[in-house]
This record gives sequence, structure tokens and C-alpha cells, in this order.
Amino acid sequence: MEYNAKRRGFIKGAGAALGVAAAAGGVVALYGMKRTWDPLPSVAAAGTTEVDISALRAGEPTRVLYRKKPVYILKKGEGMPLDEKRDAVINGEAYTIVIAICTHLGCIPAWNSSAQQFKCACHGGEFNASGVNTFGPPSRPLDIPPFRVDGVKLVLGEEGEEYKRLASLS
Ligand code: FES
Repeated sequence: MEYNAKRRGFIKGAGAALGVAAAAGGVVALYGMKRTWDPLPSVAAAGTTEVDISALRAGEPTRVLYRKKPVYILKKGEGMPLDEKRDAVINGEAYTIVIAICTHLGCIPAWNSSAQQFKCACHGGEFNASGVNTFGPPSRPLDIPPFRVDGVKLVLGEEGEEYKRLASLS
């Protein structure tokens, strides 16, 4: 009788210990999985590009690198038409923010200031000042990278409200 009671006690204790061990194992496994899903610190650090847009001159695009891709940021100047589905409105000003990789075969289009358009030298593709394809082989507009506005800073690589607004319209 006493032996059986001791045995039951031992089994209960062992069961509780196993439960604790299993729970701890689960926590360790979840932590490991989270570490696997999280980007490496180097990737996270390289994932965004911050650009101070307060000094940009209207009508002249600035080219920056975002995740090793060129991106044009063009503050719209006087007389440049606003494309509500493509242009980011930041502090009352309109900006074109596009990945500068031609949607035909991947060349980098250049800004032509007299024609106020992006022109791709590879096969003659043309995009208007909002990055919409207007001529030649490209079959779609230049891509808009995710961005977030933080005061006068543009953070490429994070999805802010203005980016989400444009994405919902496209
Ligand atoms: S790669 Fe730009 S037009 Fe062909």
C-alpha cells in the first residue's frame, strides 16, 4: 500500500517534471523559430534607405540606392501634371518615387529634363514624369517601392500611409 502511494507520487512528480520540460522545450523551439524568421541584423539594417527630401529641387530627380536597386525621387515642379494614382503627396508637395529599373528588360531609364520624362536607352521605352509607360516596349509603369514618410525624411522599405493609399489605387 505504502509502496503504491510512493509509486503514484513518483509518477505524478515525473509527469509534472515532464510537463515543465515540454513547456520549456516549446518556448525554446518558438524562440528558435522566431530567430529563424527574423531577418539577420545585417539584412534588417540594409533593408531601409532614408532620404532627406527637404532639399530636393523641383523637376530634378534624385537617384538613391535601396536594397541595391536605384530609385528615383522626383519632386514635381510647376506645370508637371499630378497623377493621383502614382504621385505621393508629402507635406503638400507631389513626388514621383519609382524603382529606376525599366519594366521591359531591366535597363536604367534616364531623366530627360526637356521632355520631362524617363527614357530607356536600351530599346527606346519612355515613361512620363509619374513613371507611367507611354511609349515603346515596356508594358507597365515603373514600380513604386514601399515607403514611409517621417517628417522630411522618406524611409524606403517601410509601408506608410501614403504608400498604402497609392497601393490601394493601383
Ligand atoms: S529595357 Fe527599357 S526599353 Fe527595353
